[in-house]
Amino acid sequence: MRPFLLSFFLTSLAYAHPHQSDCRCRPHQSCWPSPKEWDRFNRSVDGNLVAVRPVADVCHDAIESEACQLVQDLSWNSTWRAAQPGAVQWQNWEAWPERGESCYIETLNKPCGQGRISLYSTIATSAANIQETVRFAREHNLRLAIKNSGHCYLGRSTAPESLQIQTSHMKDISFVDDFTPKGAPRGRSEGSAVTIGAGVALQELYAALGEKGRIAVAGAAHTVGAAGGYVQGGGHSFLGPWKGMASDNALQFTVVTADGNLLVTNEYLNRDLFWALRGGGGGTFGVVVDVTLRTFDEAPVIISTLNISTPVGHPAFWDAITEFHAHLPALSDAGGAGYYRIFPDLPLPEENITVSGVTLALVFPNQTDVARVDQLFDSLLTKLNVTSAVTTEYASDPLPDIHTLISEILITSDADITGGMTLVGSRMYSRGLFENGPAKLSSVLRKIRAGPYEGFTGHIVSGGAVANTHVDSALHPAWRESLLHLTFGRGWDPETSLAEQNAIRDNVTNVEVELLRSVEGSHRMGAYLNEANAYEKDFQSSFWGSNYNLLYKIKQRWDPTGLFITRSGVGSEDWDAEGLCRIRSHRLRDIGSDDVSEL
Ligand SMILES: Cc1cc2nc3c(=O)[nH]c(=O)nc-3n(C[C@H](O)[C@H](O)[C@H](O)COP(=O)(O)OP(=O)(O)OC[C@H]3O[C@@H](n4cnc5c(N)ncnc54)[C@H](O)[C@@H]3O)c2cc1C
Ligand SMILES: *[C@@H]1O[C@H](CO)[C@@H](O)[C@H](O)[C@H]1NC(C)=O
Ligand SMILES: *[C@@H]1O[C@H](CO)[C@@H](O)[C@H](O)[C@H]1NC(C)=O
Ligand SMILES: *[C@@H]1O[C@H](CO)[C@@H](O)[C@H](O)[C@H]1NC(C)=O
Ligand SMILES: *[C@@H]1O[C@H](CO)[C@@H](O)[C@H](O)[C@H]1NC(C)=O
Ligand SMILES: *[C@@H]1O[C@H](CO)[C@@H](O)[C@H](O)[C@H]1NC(C)=O
Ligand SMILES: *[C@@H]1O[C@H](CO)[C@@H](O)[C@H](O)[C@H]1NC(C)=O
Ligand SMILES: *[C@@H]1O[C@H](CO)[C@@H](O)[C@H](O)[C@H]1NC(C)=O
Repeated sequence: MRPFLLSFFLTSLAYAHPHQSDCRCRPHQSCWPSPKEWDRFNRSVDGNLVAVRPVADVCHDAIESEACQLVQDLSWNSTWRAAQPGAVQWQNWEAWPERGESCYIETLNKPCGQGRISLYSTIATSAANIQETVRFAREHNLRLAIKNSGHCYLGRSTAPESLQIQTSHMKDISFVDDFTPKGAPRGRSEGSAVTIGAGVALQELYAALGEKGRIAVAGAAHTVGAAGGYVQGGGHSFLGPWKGMASDNALQFTVVTADGNLLVTNEYLNRDLFWALRGGGGGTFGVVVDVTLRTFDEAPVIISTLNISTPVGHPAFWDAITEFHAHLPALSDAGGAGYYRIFPDLPLPEENITVSGVTLALVFPNQTDVARVDQLFDSLLTKLNVTSAVTTEYASDPLPDIHTLISEILITSDADITGGMTLVGSRMYSRGLFENGPAKLSSVLRKIRAGPYEGFTGHIVSGGAVANTHVDSALHPAWRESLLHLTFGRGWDPETSLAEQNAIRDNVTNVEVELLRSVEGSHRMGAYLNEANAYEKDFQSSFWGSNYNLLYKIKQRWDPTGLFITRSGVGSEDWDAEGLCRIRSHRLRDIGSDDVSEL
């Protein structure tokens, strides 16, 4: 009786008043490593340690300098941002508005605050660099941040007063025809595969695949990190309905765990960790050093584009959206996958008009019969053409291979355009919604404010193989029944006050995302953890559904002290918003080892 009461008492105390020891070591405290210790640590990581300031710092006393000119020229360029330890892709996660700290390139009149930019970074070039950094952070109780490209919309790659592991320099890529997972029975082959280092960007992966005439499931962006948050969060793709989610095609991860050990996880070794790394989210279970992904033969592809428009605000617009959505199941059944944008208020300056419009790009991998695809669209076009206010443009074209689609249409130039401030709201929608009540979705979307050029992005990246695969992983089960992942974004400018930023955040969280949730009921589906509101309510169920409890247990098993904490990540509810102080001890009594060892 007594030990139980005692531990209960301590738990309640920890909840009410975080102890000093429940917080990370901060720079002004005596626990902070001395210059000598930093030096020794630097040598242990091959001199790859840098002290970090926000990228725009170089402009604060020297606007005319060459260094500042470079920052100004490249500040929108995701490839450049990915490589800078003092930047992420969305500037709002560089700032720390609650502390009044920012260092925006647009507001050089204000002092440059460190914000959420890490104080030190290990620019890792080897697994050993990562191991040393994990050990050093643990030994000194430092807040640790893992940054790859810094694309995370939820701010998971920055943390204030932290030591960063920058993974984006780890660019190894190697191919094998017959991949045998470590620990697998002799002769067991998973077929052709590619192993990529932690820092390989999607565009680099596609280029290497193109040279080999192979293809793998990955996303539609230049700099998103294929082995980082992307695949660990599930990874959706225009190739997903053909071959499954990116995480469904991950065969093995090499990982540095919280104790600093380097180990291999796959179907045969450390299975619980392998399960968690496929959909459990980045930055939570360990630092991935490399991942092995299945590759496929190249294939021809058909690309279809469809534009629908009406005069701006015309009531026929939302009926057209409903009609379009009603056709999604048939397009998906035929193998179609892709993206569309809905713009309720779209100025077309060249034509001197404003319309309400939809633009769709749908791809049909491994298909060559254009007439068959034309036929698929025919009934939709016929229905839309009946209304005179609705204008349509449609075309389908064959391409020789998927590499051509990627390099000439989907991912051209050499960088994504990033650098602004953004918050996302999103929801997954089930196939059933489109079969039974697509009008419900239109009636909700029209209630969400959309100014000029603002709107919604529809990702038709589930259905097909995403629905049919039997891979057991941490991926939210809602992905298997969804047909659509829909997002919108809210931006603001650097002069926006904290009060105004909070108002935007509150409206996204309490009004706009609630509207999206209302379509199928608050808990019916969920949201994609990589493209969702950073302040998502009930994030555990939104991002992982019924998988959450097991994920939480696996987290406690591999990282009992919470070294790896990210915003709205597994186990983050035990910490404050910045992951600086523990606000309650983990729910030890919930943790049995049975279901974990079952995996
Ligand atoms: C322009 C753009 C396009 C996108 N397109 C797609 C798309 O087509 N499909 C899709 O599914 N998603 C897409 N996303 C979302 C993308 O998957 C996420 O932003 C993802 O988190 C990016 O991973 P990253 O490692 O590059 O980013 P980061 O922000 O660097 O990292 C994201 C998270 O992963 C952690 N992490 C990074 N590397 C590691 C590692 N080696 N080990 C452990 N943890 C790590 C970080 O700590 C952080 O928690 C897109 C995002 C943007 C901005
Ligand atoms: C780490 O060592 C390298 C090489 O000696 C040096 O260039 C760098 O400035 C050091 N980093 C820090 C933070 O002192
Ligand atoms: C973006 O930045 C990268 C890296 O600095 C550079 O190589 C590339 O040319 C830049 N792209 C553009 C379009 O400026
Ligand atoms: C493409 O389709 C053909 C014919 O159905 C099939 O044999 C081949 O395996 C498919 N290619 C891929 C990469 O799935
Ligand atoms: C654009 O349209 C508006 C009203 O429809 C008209 O007044 C204006 O002259 C037009 N401008 C041009 C450049 O055609
Ligand atoms: C629909 O109308 C467009 C022009 O507005 C036309 O090109 C197309 O052939 C029509 N399609 C059908 C199926 O009626
Ligand atoms: C649809 O609109 C886009 C953007 O304006 C354009 O590039 C594309 O050619 C249009 N599609 C068709 C079939 O006209
Ligand atoms: C909140 O969001 C709704 C829906 O988009 C919008 O109509 C309303 O104007 C917003 N309110 C504020 C205060 O921004």
